[in-house]
Amino acid sequence: MKEKTHRFGVSMEKTLLAKLDALIARKGYSNRSEALRDLVRDKLVEQEWQVGNKEVVATVTLIYNHGSLDLANKLTDLQHDNHQQILSTTHFHLDQHNCLELLALKGPAGKIKEIAERLIATKGVKHGKLVMT
Ligand code: NI
Repeated sequence: MKEKTHRFGVSMEKTLLAKLDALIARKGYSNRSEALRDLVRDKLVEQEWQVGNKEVVATVTLIYNHGSLDLANKLTDLQHDNHQQILSTTHFHLDQHNCLELLALKGPAGKIKEIAERLIATKGVKHGKLVMT
């Protein structure tokens, strides 16, 4: 059964609207309503993850220079502190200096997000990304 839709007016600055229209063109939405619905849904899912104690599985990728021994130790300490949520860690030596670490995690969304943020925010980590499923 298709749910009834409701219309409402939205006001926004000209520049913001122009950015929305550019996004619509880029992503191929047929109109603004469709694009806004998608953005709202996306945001709601994200919020659910943030507040939720909902169990999620996630991956975290980290790129860092192993030359900093202090950094490698800090990352390992953080992982030991959260061993209950970390299912596995795989380390790839990318080249002479750079390492890629891939972590699989499982636990309450809020906790997973906190662990990921701490890992990614560790000084010296060049790039990090959390993907929750
Ligand atoms: Ni390495």
